[in-house]
Amino acid sequence: MSVLSIKEVSYQYKNKYQTVSALDGISYEFNLGKLYAVIGKSGSGKTTLLSLLAGLSVPTKGKILFHETAMTELNLDEYRRDHASVIYQNFNLFPLLTAKENVMYPLLLKKMEKTKARQQAEEKLCSVELTKEKQKRMPAQLSGGEQQRVAIARALASEAEIILADEPTGNLDSENSKNIINILKELAYKEKRCVILVTHDNKAASQADSILHIKDGKLEV
Ligand SMILES: Nc1ncnc2c1ncn2[C@@H]1O[C@H](COP(=O)(O)OP(=O)(O)OP(=O)(O)O)[C@@H](O)[C@H]1O
Ligand SMILES: [Mg+2]
Repeated sequence: MSVLSIKEVSYQYKNKYQTVSALDGISYEFNLGKLYAVIGKSGSGKTTLLSLLAGLSVPTKGKILFHETAMTELNLDEYRRDHASVIYQNFNLFPLLTAKENVMYPLLLKKMEKTKARQQAEEKLCSVELTKEKQKRMPAQLSGGEQQRVAIARALASEAEIILADEPTGNLDSENSKNIINILKELAYKEKRCVILVTHDNKAASQADSILHIKDGKLEV
């Protein structure tokens, strides 16, 4: 059974002056235990697709099913808190919390005990090679690549079965990006999560089980 299935999904950004068709009739099935890569030119619709899968926006046409239940029937706040964790293109860290507190935050939201949340946050931050000293800093006191690793650690710490990552290796050197891809692969294979990775990096994409190529809002086959 698919964890996520999208059926004939289209999405349009609308404002007073114009309508932009960002996705046009996309259908696909995503399964647990697999790593997916979404590739395509800038503006092709990759982030839009991720936002829909994350429950941050709702298709203009078509539908998305989560374990065979239409997303429109779900409480999307709950879906985002418990089932889908997003690593954003611009990291989205809380500026007034330290790196460690950023990772602890979603765990505390789920009522995890503070000591346990702190321990889990430290463990995940160490796994992306952020030192104990840097874990105490605010995002603004970290480099772009370090902030990105904090965002990744936050997704690792969550127990969400769906991990959505928008260019998670965008600001990283090749060594670090290899590590991140390996971590994402482990999440898919060892922890049986569904990992969906948007990337411009062909080497990263080639490691995925399936590649979705988006062109002008359509899925190329
Ligand atoms: N808020 C918005 N309002 C109007 N149009 C938008 C908005 N956000 C994105 N778009 C348009 O929708 C299309 C798809 O954008 P999207 O962000 O999904 O592309 P992308 O594939 O993620 O690109 P990139 O690789 O540059 O991140 C583009 O034409 C973009 O200009
Ligand atoms: Mg994008």
